Amino acid sequence: MRIDLISLFPEFVAQCAGFGVVGRARERGLLSLHGWNPRDYAEGNYRRVDDRPFGGGPGMVMMIDPLRAAIRAARAADPAPARVTYLSPQGRPLTQAIVRELAARPRLVLLCGRYEGVDERLLEAEVDEELSIGDYVLSGGELAAAVVVDAVARLQEGALNDAGSAAQDSFEADGLLDCPHYTRPVEHELGTVPEVLLSGNHAEIARWRRRQSLLRTRRRRPDLLAAADLSPEERAWLAA
Ligand code: ADE
Repeated sequence: MRIDLISLFPEFVAQCAGFGVVGRARERGLLSLHGWNPRDYAEGNYRRVDDRPFGGGPGMVMMIDPLRAAIRAARAADPAPARVTYLSPQGRPLTQAIVRELAARPRLVLLCGRYEGVDERLLEAEVDEELSIGDYVLSGGELAAAVVVDAVARLQEGALNDAGSAAQDSFEADGLLDCPHYTRPVEHELGTVPEVLLSGNHAEIARWRRRQSLLRTRRRRPDLLAAADLSPEERAWLAA
């Protein structure tokens, strides 16, 4: 997958994507990141990319032309058609289902805003979708873009050393939260590993994990249960 980043700080996102699973995915050639800085397309000695908002008010607004030139350069760098995704708190809330959909595309173009926002005309003309990573305001879209890059990178085939591990994540197993995990030692002053996990009985272990996921989801995120893929028996068990 190819990801083009339109940002005043493309190195910031590249740094975030330099470690662990994402770094390895890039090394393995499963993911390439390309930064495009609107400042490189700005005119004048000061290479200005922002200006005061019409109508007054605080803050600055990112100007159309440097952003449009950067987006066009990014689009032209690869023949595959690209949808442009703008990261903003006004966007559609990111979910694992959306991440899966993004991860299946051959390329992403992520647009990061700074200051108070981006001239609306640029958004109307060039942006295909808007995504938010949550109901809070960041000082720019870069951290949100880094979140998207991380979440899609780990779903690229070959990115995780154990292919089964993505399927077991929270939200992947039928929309439920993940079960608890334990490793050695079995006995510790902080507690003992649940016996069923040491039993070697894989059917029992799977059943225990599923029930832990159900209980944990009900306790922590009851909002997820309505849409989760549960059997009638599981719904009855939870209700009991
Ligand atoms: N830019 C600023 N805040 C953001 C958020 N919550 N999600 C995505 N992009 C953002």
